[in-house]
Amino acid sequence: MNTPIPSAPAEIHIFDTTLRDGEQSPGCSMTPQQKLVMARGLADLGVDIIETGFPASSQSDREAHALIARDLRETTLAVLSRCLPGDIETSLRTLSASAKPRLHLFLSTSPLHREHKLRMSREQVLQSIDTHVRLARGHVDEIEFSAEDATRTEEDFLHQAIATAIAAGATTINLPDTVGFTTPEEIRAMFQRAIASVPGADKVIFSAHCHNDLGLAVANSLAAIEGGARQVEGSINGIGERAGNCAIEELVMALKVRNAFYNLDTRIDTRRIVPTSQLLSRLVGMPVQRNKAIVGANAFAHESGIHQHGMLRHRGTYEIMQPQDVGWPSSQMVLGRHSGRAAVEQRLRALGYWLEEEELKLVFEQFKALCEKQRVVGDADLQELMQDAAVSDGYRLASMTISDVGSRANALVELSDPDGNRISETAQGNGPVDALFSALAAATGVQLQLESYQVHSVGIGADARGEASLSVRCDGEEYEGTGTSKDIIEASALAWLDVANRLLRQRRVEQQEAAAA
Ligand code: KIV
Ligand code: ZN
Repeated sequence: MNTPIPSAPAEIHIFDTTLRDGEQSPGCSMTPQQKLVMARGLADLGVDIIETGFPASSQSDREAHALIARDLRETTLAVLSRCLPGDIETSLRTLSASAKPRLHLFLSTSPLHREHKLRMSREQVLQSIDTHVRLARGHVDEIEFSAEDATRTEEDFLHQAIATAIAAGATTINLPDTVGFTTPEEIRAMFQRAIASVPGADKVIFSAHCHNDLGLAVANSLAAIEGGARQVEGSINGIGERAGNCAIEELVMALKVRNAFYNLDTRIDTRRIVPTSQLLSRLVGMPVQRNKAIVGANAFAHESGIHQHGMLRHRGTYEIMQPQDVGWPSSQMVLGRHSGRAAVEQRLRALGYWLEEEELKLVFEQFKALCEKQRVVGDADLQELMQDAAVSDGYRLASMTISDVGSRANALVELSDPDGNRISETAQGNGPVDALFSALAAATGVQLQLESYQVHSVGIGADARGEASLSVRCDGEEYEGTGTSKDIIEASALAWLDVANRLLRQRRVEQQEAAAA
């Protein structure tokens, strides 16, 4: 492992290009209104700069900028412009609506681009940088200059181009890996040498803009940071030209999770990451791949039995960050073919089923059989398994009689206990349900503090049944139970026993576990 970055300034600026580089990629175009919605999401996320588009290229980008500029007064808004007077003029007009404007000028510097795309000599490129940066700086304080295809540019010429842009007034120097060609070691050295040797480098912020053609965009951006870059450009979900840009969510979480190494923060509210990713995915209609780092549906899902078992003992065994830190509600234990008994038991307990060893063995066998038929076993499947499983369930109602005693009610209940013995008890109460619950408490020895009690009808006509639901408190914990019968008083008795049996089962299992520990 490398040694940590020594005395680096404390913050990385996040320059978001989801609405420009991201939006110009196939399948990701957005209307001005959609861009506005996304820009609000990005501002909430806490990005420092939003690049809204390329005004000279389309009326739609100009409209989008106008909408966003009216709405977002605290975030720096940038627009992209070629080094052409006409483009700059249009960009300046567009930017005039922004509270915090930045003009982003770019010109290719690599030999391939100079010769085949621009048909310009080195001198002409330097001249153009000087002229256009000066022109723009006469109108806007924040000028970013990008040396397009920097990573394939001769180093001496790249340094001349950077020096020219700084001397002409650029405030940020971006060195893009336009075609995703570089490697971490190369880009780190490129930034280090430029910052160390270009005159005026200490007066500007250096920025990285990495494409993902070799799947290295995030790694290269982190390496650029090690080399001294203090702004990183990227997009949500990594969308962008071809294989995309540096995925902001991945970069930000790498800096956060490995903060002891990088010693650098961002202003991003990481809990907004997943909502922002999902917002973009909905707006452009492009699903996030399931195994995508941080924001993919599987990023915090565990199915293998060994992993689930480890997670249940200590989540650090298989998770390096908390799902809640990036905006997921929780980790997910996906129950399927690879799951073990521990995970099934934990899920059953969360659903209120505390099983003894032998019962769990039986239910687990049934679970495995179900996994042969379906890929994932959900809560409803488990509930169904539990209904089918012949798990002996504590006290059972054998009979009950309710009668009136003056203004009060009398209840006689007969139960079979967990060992099959018959017990009966009577009690009086202020009504039939009150008397019934008192008789059940006397028969079982369980005292329940009723929190809520509801009865409603299920089905219609001759098939109608009463369903009673109870929620009770016992030893500070809340338990719920239900019972169904044609008779609502009997349904209430069944719901009460459902809760009592769960509670007794939980206590029994906890005692067994304590004894075994
Ligand atoms: O990839 C690139 O070089 C760019 C520049 C315009 C910054 O997107
Ligand atoms: Zn780009």
